Amino acid sequence: MNKNIPRRTFAIISHPDAGKTTLTEKFLLFGGAIQTAGAVKSNKIRKTATSDFMEIEKQRGISVSTSVMGFEYGGCRVNILDTPGHKDFAEDTYRTLTAVDSVILVVDAAKGVEEQTENLMRVCRMRATPVIVLINKMDREGLDPFDLLDELENKLGLTPCPLSWPIGQGDRFKGVYNKHRKHLDLFSASKTSIASDIRSFDDLNDQRIDDLLGPLARKLREDLDLLEVYGDFRQEAYLQAAQAPIFFGSALNNFGIRELLDTFVQIAPEPGPRETRTGIIETQHPKLTGFVFKIHANLDPNHRDRIAFMRICSGKFERNKFYHHVRLDKKIRFSAPLLFQASDRNTVDEAWPGDVVGLYDTGNFKIGDSLTEGEHLFFKGIPAFSPELFRRVENLDPFKAKQFEKGLRQLTDEGVAQLFVQQPGNRKIIGTVGELQFDVIQFRLLHEYGAKVQYQSLPYLKACWIHAANPDKIEDFFQYRREHQAFDKDARSVYLADSQWMLQRLQAENPDLEFRFSAELILEESSDGADD
Ligand code: G4P
Repeated sequence: MNKNIPRRTFAIISHPDAGKTTLTEKFLLFGGAIQTAGAVKSNKIRKTATSDFMEIEKQRGISVSTSVMGFEYGGCRVNILDTPGHKDFAEDTYRTLTAVDSVILVVDAAKGVEEQTENLMRVCRMRATPVIVLINKMDREGLDPFDLLDELENKLGLTPCPLSWPIGQGDRFKGVYNKHRKHLDLFSASKTSIASDIRSFDDLNDQRIDDLLGPLARKLREDLDLLEVYGDFRQEAYLQAAQAPIFFGSALNNFGIRELLDTFVQIAPEPGPRETRTGIIETQHPKLTGFVFKIHANLDPNHRDRIAFMRICSGKFERNKFYHHVRLDKKIRFSAPLLFQASDRNTVDEAWPGDVVGLYDTGNFKIGDSLTEGEHLFFKGIPAFSPELFRRVENLDPFKAKQFEKGLRQLTDEGVAQLFVQQPGNRKIIGTVGELQFDVIQFRLLHEYGAKVQYQSLPYLKACWIHAANPDKIEDFFQYRREHQAFDKDARSVYLADSQWMLQRLQAENPDLEFRFSAELILEESSDGADD
């Protein structure tokens, strides 16, 4: 890998069905990484498979190779970090967002801002991640573009700055005016190849535009006058997440997509500094640092190995060189690290900040682990969010207690679900954001660890991490609420809430306590984890 090519490491995010896969595919086509449309589709987790978790896991297995899609475009190395569209895997997506430098958000013009979009943007806001928005499916009837801008502002808290503007919609969709580059691109549908017959006009008052667009030409000029209120694009504001450039187009028809990619590589941020618990690590820092944001396990019991995805934050990563696994305080090296090229993966000799490498792992890594050349540091900002579904998990075979404990620990280290423990009796509770994870855990515990388990549903809605300046206050609070108290894997006290109403009441009655719905992962140096 060439060190000197600037990196653009980002994720495309959307509510399922808005067009993320289609857009990714068009980017890969432009980057020459695939030759025909349809190549990425087969890796998508299909919505029809919601009840069939094995099918979904199989597809997730395939999608290891699309976890990162790298290609070169416009003088940049573009790394797209894939995020699962399925809502049950939202935690995976949230964690991946900690490893990117920016995002492109795809919104369906007919549906506007949807629920999953709001959740994703909440995570982006926590880290002030720069956002570009594509309003997709303009070839279909949709909401008024001005109403869409209002939604972006009101529901997502974005400050939109349209860089392109649509002319008509649905059957009357004629194209977009590129406000940024001041020219007009007329729509022509091309679903499988790169559209080449876009006609451009530099002067908006050109009579030929009236000839082509008829009354829509006047409407366009009026709209553009109204757009003045959104002000001019300021790159600095975008980089600080204070302004979100907006594009309109149709990913399926490949319209407005090249403009989006061209502008993206031009304005999107390069890998930036990263915060650790002990200070900032600059990209220019000469020594290797990186953190694991995702662990992918194979379901095949004959191949227990996992792949840990590490984002490189500084220095140079080299194959076969010994690095320091900070939490385990141990030297570790990788003989076959992977670099991802579109739908391929190859062994790589070196990688640089902004790159993501896949490391074969036999159980050494947890989400959030860092690798260095000896420095003792932990990266900040890998969050755990409150689960929404809770079940008690019971081991059915007393002779498999050890396997049960180990399996549960490893699966939750991978981030499949969160584990809470209740006292007395070390009762274990699994918290997830989707039903599917329960099936996945039950299946994997049995097939990979030989432990048979059963679940008991619990009525909780949320887990809140309780904070207080004075720890005695936390103890006082739980004194008469033991059945709602649990401890997360880092032994922090968590309140399990069974109703929104009760939660609000407790918040009001306990001003000294803070009820947090997310917590940063805490990894400390320890001896656990490396136990295969
Ligand atoms: P996702 O990854 O965000 O879930 O969305 P995906 O790209 O799979 O797109 C969801 C559906 O929307 C697909 O149709 C896709 O073809 C369609 N689509 C994407 N972009 C556009 C667009 O610009 N215009 C129109 N009209 N449709 C678009 P599908 O029928 O669900 O799947 P398929 O049969 O096409 O594979």
